[in-house]
Amino acid sequence: MKAVVATAYGPPEGFAIADVPVPRPGPGQIQVRIAAASINPLDLRLPGGEFRGVTELTFPHIPGNDFAGTVSEVGAGVTGYQVGDEVFGHAMPRALRAMVGAGRPSMTTGTLAEYAVFEAGTPFIAHRPADLDVADAAALPTVGLTARAVLATAAPKPDDTILVVGASGGVGTTLLPLLAGAAVIATGRPEDSELLRAKGATEVIGYDDDYPGGVDLALNLVLPSDRLRRVGRALRPGGRLYTITFPTPQPEYLDRDDVRFELVLDMDGQLGGMREVAELTPTIGRRYRLDDGVRALTDFARRHTFGKLVVTA
Ligand SMILES: NC(=O)c1ccc[n+]([C@@H]2O[C@H](COP(=O)([O-])OP(=O)(O)OC[C@H]3O[C@@H](n4cnc5c(N)ncnc54)[C@H](OP(=O)(O)O)[C@@H]3O)[C@@H](O)[C@H]2O)c1
Repeated sequence: MKAVVATAYGPPEGFAIADVPVPRPGPGQIQVRIAAASINPLDLRLPGGEFRGVTELTFPHIPGNDFAGTVSEVGAGVTGYQVGDEVFGHAMPRALRAMVGAGRPSMTTGTLAEYAVFEAGTPFIAHRPADLDVADAAALPTVGLTARAVLATAAPKPDDTILVVGASGGVGTTLLPLLAGAAVIATGRPEDSELLRAKGATEVIGYDDDYPGGVDLALNLVLPSDRLRRVGRALRPGGRLYTITFPTPQPEYLDRDDVRFELVLDMDGQLGGMREVAELTPTIGRRYRLDDGVRALTDFARRHTFGKLVVTA
């Protein structure tokens, strides 16, 4: 089958389209013919070598976590799916097994391929609703689950003033409509301004502009959590800062101790499942065919992303 492969650690410019064996499902697994996949930062970070202290990849490595497609083979003991079922979801590369939740881990052989194998019994894979377009279904899983988890954890109040840092990306563009009704200050490039307002931002500021003061709630969707001092200063006393990035928040990352500062990470799907995710609206910034999968990954690394990049079969 055709797949995007990394053959050694390095940047996406070194990836290639290759012919590799079709992965077969073992007990409790399903094989899916992939109709669409979307790109996430992890697809570059893992083959880039960022997790080498935790795990070593075997090559060729096929990137890709998010997908929509059709079940093409069912392993022994699978009862929830049949060949022909339309499914979508999110799964982690098998190399990261040690890092995912202990409960019902969602693992894959890599979705930037014609076929991929998944564990069937996870909350992160579900039947695709008939009214959810296949590209939208592939764009939504990681960012939708994350946006839902942020919303459930931060629990914004209607009169909150909210600062969203990283609003233009996959998670940000999915989250903004869920904040409707609040005063939302979103970061973006000048060319993003109108699109961000259409998604629900009431004010758009540049990455390096001064953040406003007196903010009730700040949501960091992009900066490393040890680089949030400036975001912390924007909060009013008693304000809350939630981040989705590592390293895990430490009080000393901020120069104040009168605010709340927490990581949002929902490895076991406690804060929302695929049914809720299917109701969200993704923003697809650019589309590619699998033959152009390497370009999709290099564009994600080198060009500005507004929303998601989707790769279709
Ligand atoms: N905790 C979790 O469960 C979880 C889940 C999913 C993702 N994540 C992490 O969350 C982060 C965002 O994910 P994503 O999928 O939304 O990534 P993404 O699509 O790459 O979005 C990041 C956005 O932030 C923009 N940006 C870059 N530098 C900025 C700055 N200094 N200030 C404001 N915005 C800036 C980027 O634009 P440019 O093109 O200008 O760079 C891009 O539009 C990643 O680090 C990812 O690993 C965490």
